Amino acid sequence: MLTETPRHLSLPERDALLEEIAARTGVRAERGRRFAELTSLRVGGAIDWVLMPETEAEAAALVHELARAGIAWRVLGAGSNVLADDEAHRYVVLCMKEVKGTAAFACERVRVSAGYSLPRLCVDAARRGLAGIEGLGGIPGTVGGALWMNAGAYGHEIGTVVETVRVARGGRVVEVPGGEITWDYRHTSFQDGELLLGATLHLQADEPRLIKERMEESKRKRLESQPHGARSAGCFFKNPPGTGLSTGRMIDEMGLKGTKRGGAVVSPVHANFIVTEGEGALAADALALAEEIRERIRRERGIELEYEVELWRAASPADIASSTIGQDARSDDAPPQRQSQNQLGEAEWVEPPITETENEAEGAKGE
Ligand code: EPU
Repeated sequence: MLTETPRHLSLPERDALLEEIAARTGVRAERGRRFAELTSLRVGGAIDWVLMPETEAEAAALVHELARAGIAWRVLGAGSNVLADDEAHRYVVLCMKEVKGTAAFACERVRVSAGYSLPRLCVDAARRGLAGIEGLGGIPGTVGGALWMNAGAYGHEIGTVVETVRVARGGRVVEVPGGEITWDYRHTSFQDGELLLGATLHLQADEPRLIKERMEESKRKRLESQPHGARSAGCFFKNPPGTGLSTGRMIDEMGLKGTKRGGAVVSPVHANFIVTEGEGALAADALALAEEIRERIRRERGIELEYEVELWRAASPADIASSTIGQDARSDDAPPQRQSQNQLGEAEWVEPPITETENEAEGAKGE
């Protein structure tokens, strides 16, 4: 265990440390990327560093190194559920897309890494006559992203088939039973700052023909009711939990389909999708439109919509320098604790996960 006090790094110091960590761990590090290239909404500002590990072990070791160095990071999969603001984002983005490996099937189980494509996994499973995720085939994300938020569609949620999830703890790959995780509607008990590396899913054997039919049916419904080929992040808001109300229907009934603000539009196909159009589209356009919708729903229906997409705020260098605790430095195998990572009420932008030191994490362990 390290006992050093938190480091307060200047950006040049942090950059030098990052270069050294990337060289030592052999992880590809890129500069000059933008969220506009890495997210499906195609908006969002510059990213200081993008780190691209290729294996689960490499990713686990990497976040541990970052934690020890006191460097703030945040994880991105396919970028299909993230609205990052237009400013310069001064933290490290850990891109998990290359941690994909192969889906390893054994009887009714499949072991898969976080960067693996969810639609591809659904097709692989269907071909092998394994049911339980065929409704998820149209979600254009990675397995890691799906696990993080308990992605669901057409009667299936990934959390219901998870046997174990692999997470990074103390530089190692640690297996956490699915039963120890809370799987709620588009929300889980994973904590910000916790890196998901992969999972083993337990599916059910069924006739490939029947699974394929159900997949086709979900696809038909999706193509009929949701925009495709558009720059979107899926549904923008959650449906109000426990009400049976559909946010899409409410927005539609207010006549807001097709409403435009700058380069952001309420999809004419499904009103809970905000899509972006044109070269000049900004994250600020999408957020302004989203806030207008929330305001109308608040005023006219008395309902506080929660964002379903994650809003990522750029952190200032001062935030980076003074950031404090996180989770990965833990070396225990304690299950993750509940946090509010995906329960945004106001247009509250998620801070980047926070830099951490082992001595502080030790202190946080007993909470
Ligand atoms: N509706 C309208 N107008 C609209 C959109 C919907 O009248 O513009 C009506 C539909 O006709 C239907 C009802 O509202 O009667 C519900 O619509 P839909 O079946 O499209 O379901 P949803 O609740 O809007 C949810 C998920 C989707 C998921 C589908 C299918 C949320 C926020 N959305 O949509 O997930 O694909 O069910 O299972 O939970 C996502 O997570 O990003 C997402 C798109």
